[in-house]
Amino acid sequence: MSETICNCMNVDRETIVKAIKEKNLTTVEEVQDATTAGTGCGSCVPDIEDILAEES
Ligand code: FES
Repeated sequence: MSETICNCMNVDRETIVKAIKEKNLTTVEEVQDATTAGTGCGSCVPDIEDILAEES
């Protein structure tokens, strides 16, 4: 398991990167739907935005 990005939903970086690549996700909302990351307290949303910027 790689670095945990979303502590609320226990979602790691690799899970998010994989979902972005496999499903061609471009928005935080799409990542939330695909992985549940960012659907709790919301504090990891900026991190998800960073990952989106790096991977898409
Ligand atoms: S840490 Fe991701 S929603 Fe709270």
